[in-house]
Amino acid sequence: MVKAVKYERNDTDAKVILLDQRALPSRVIFVKCLGAQDTATAIKEMVVRGAPAIGIAAAYALAAEAWHELQRGSSALELLSHLTRAGEVLIRARPTAVNLAWAVKRVLQSALTCPEGSSAKDVAYRMEREAKAIDEEDLRMNRAMADFGAKLLPDQGGVLTHCNAGALATGGYGTALGVIRRAYEIGKRFKVYADETRPLMQGARLTAWELMQDGIPVVLITDSSAAYLMQLGRIQCAIVGADRIAANGDVANKIGTYAIAVSCRAHGIPFYVAAPSSTVDLNTSSGREIVVEERSATEITTFGDVRIAPEGIEVFNPAFDITPARYVTAIITDKGIVGPPFDHGLRQILGMHDTVDAEE
Ligand code: MRU
Repeated sequence: MVKAVKYERNDTDAKVILLDQRALPSRVIFVKCLGAQDTATAIKEMVVRGAPAIGIAAAYALAAEAWHELQRGSSALELLSHLTRAGEVLIRARPTAVNLAWAVKRVLQSALTCPEGSSAKDVAYRMEREAKAIDEEDLRMNRAMADFGAKLLPDQGGVLTHCNAGALATGGYGTALGVIRRAYEIGKRFKVYADETRPLMQGARLTAWELMQDGIPVVLITDSSAAYLMQLGRIQCAIVGADRIAANGDVANKIGTYAIAVSCRAHGIPFYVAAPSSTVDLNTSSGREIVVEERSATEITTFGDVRIAPEGIEVFNPAFDITPARYVTAIITDKGIVGPPFDHGLRQILGMHDTVDAEE
């Protein structure tokens, strides 16, 4: 299975190794990051992307940074203050996906809760263990949500997905694509329709690539064809990932997701969101509070190296949009499936896990 983020440490070096997703599918190349600054740059430039994957990359970046501080002879206190600043650099890299700040805070918290008198080495190793735990847990969460969600997908027909919520965007297996993969493993035989996902083409470049490698039938469509395919009766449900889910169930995800949700409602088609509990942000009460990242104009005015819009054109390029909870049929999480009213269900999965009704 493809691994978007890896961590390597030996006696002389510690580094984060990122599969360069900008080069896919034509080239499989890797970028090495030694610490927080270069990992933050890689996150901004989308060498690594997808909410869980950027969290994992940031967690490993802190582990690598801690190891380098250790080599410089820093005390535990110096290491902690350096790592707190490094965490801020990482969190600033992209604002919308909550997993990034969540992972950084979790690794820092593991260091802060080291027993009194711990050495710098104890602190650094603890951070490294926490980063690895975040990575491994993400894969486990994806498998769990896939088991819950697979039964919601149709036996035949078409399933629409947007952007890339696959192994590339996570610790492995994927969220929305994990559910699709599991559905295939249990014998369902629908066709996946992958939106190309303007402007950076995560659907065309990444989702199509992942599904073709697995032998799952995938049809590439332009973003603007989705509603028409629904009208033709070729799509039985849509399933997407999420960058942040507010306490009321509003969902931030790749730009274009909202249009899909509205089209699903207009055609009476279920619209599912698959996301680990680390993407649920109970501190954000609704989607209105979510900061939507705006990216550079050149992502829209150029295609590859070719200019496709007039010089001087004004551009608005939000990377994400907010789908109001009322358009979401169900949120598939690692703890179970949550239906409306989402505020109640989401609180339950984060607080009282064992009382969630995992059935449809
Ligand atoms: O800008 P990107 O490629 O990082 O956007 C990714 C998405 O919107 C994904 O759908 C989301 O992060 C969920 S990935 C499991």
